[in-house]
Amino acid sequence: MEQVISNPDSLTGVISVPGDKSISHRALILNSIATGSATVTGLSGGADVVSTMACMRALGSEIEEGNQPGTVKINGSGSALREPQDILDAGNSGTSMRLLCGLLASQDFTSVLTGDCSLRSRPMSRVVEPLKEMGADILGRKGDTLAPLTLRGGSLRGIEYTMPVASAQVKSSIMLAGLSAQGNTILHQPAPSRDHTERMLSAMGVTVDTDGLSLTLRPGSLRCVDLAVPGDISSAAFWLVAGLCHPNANVLVTGVGLNPSRTGILEALQAMGAGNNLALKNERVVGGEPVADLMARSCQLKGAEIGGDIIPRIIDELPVLAVAACFAEGTTVIRDAAELRVKETDRIQTTVTQLLRLGADIQATEDGMVIHGTGSLTGAVCDSCGDHRLAMSLAVAGLLAKGETTILDAGAASVSYPTFWESLAQLSGTQQSQA
Ligand code: S3P
Repeated sequence: MEQVISNPDSLTGVISVPGDKSISHRALILNSIATGSATVTGLSGGADVVSTMACMRALGSEIEEGNQPGTVKINGSGSALREPQDILDAGNSGTSMRLLCGLLASQDFTSVLTGDCSLRSRPMSRVVEPLKEMGADILGRKGDTLAPLTLRGGSLRGIEYTMPVASAQVKSSIMLAGLSAQGNTILHQPAPSRDHTERMLSAMGVTVDTDGLSLTLRPGSLRCVDLAVPGDISSAAFWLVAGLCHPNANVLVTGVGLNPSRTGILEALQAMGAGNNLALKNERVVGGEPVADLMARSCQLKGAEIGGDIIPRIIDELPVLAVAACFAEGTTVIRDAAELRVKETDRIQTTVTQLLRLGADIQATEDGMVIHGTGSLTGAVCDSCGDHRLAMSLAVAGLLAKGETTILDAGAASVSYPTFWESLAQLSGTQQSQA
């Protein structure tokens, strides 16, 4: 699908975003292996979460969809999953594949996990190595580093493991395996990453002790919990940047999850001078996670240096932050973000190449980007390269650029935000054309 975007006179309105993708994956997986039953509302309808749901069903999990979109009832199996009859397909979703590796490593049957061509090229040794150390039997392409992966589950032992990368997917994968291992699992992280797994495990009866960057998980069984999934801050980020950078904008995104391990984008935009033009309203706690409505209105941003421990807390928002930097006064430097190179695409390369097409003054570095704000972009043809966050970041660029922007492979947005183009049409008061 191609999408043509032009610069609207104004960007205004109140919208909600899909349920948090990270929480949605975990709500499906953890409730499936718990005892009892749970109703989850606000589940993301994005293709990544649909992939997790299909894999869990193939493993025997009973997940019934309710009448309301995003509502599911899960009957927990108390960890008794069954051998799947076919290959499990994680689609484009790194979270599905890595979390399922941890889950399947201890299941007493054989399973094969694959994904689309992007996922089949992403590094899996980061989960395969520690899971093998726990006793798992895993085979994969290129010396067990790439999917498809074959797992023959069995009994595992807890390990003490120092993680080389700050990754919530790796941390969660090892914790899922640790739930049924002999002995405790102790993890040392290089920097904090999102902690939804820890929070959900605690709510389900398995406490994870955290001590700074280290955590200890004692094996245990889970009880199902009802969950209301908050809106995804990674999806809200597109409208926050559009609202701050468009000269005539006032946007309110309602019900956004503000777990502190996810709010790097708000801190970065504050460091860029958003001030009162980016505000939290109606702060509350929903299902154990902090939630608020986020207001963004036009302002002049300035360049900033973004690096260090904030990076894992803003990792998915860096492409759209690069768009904001094009409209900021001065230079923005993003560093310590080499992990971007192993996302759905090499996001340093794709962000730089595509924003150059729109006339940005941007250079790639080994671990980030340097962007000189010029205050304008010019519409052109650009390509998401099949990466959902690129499709939506380029759409924000298109809303701010002079002239017409055509985004190739714009349908990729549905991996995390299937209603993105409707939200864009609503806020811009226009019918953007689709081919
Ligand atoms: C996710 C963790 C992040 C993030 C991804 C979702 C998760 O990856 O980029 O979109 O749900 O655990 P890391 O494994 O690099 O933290």
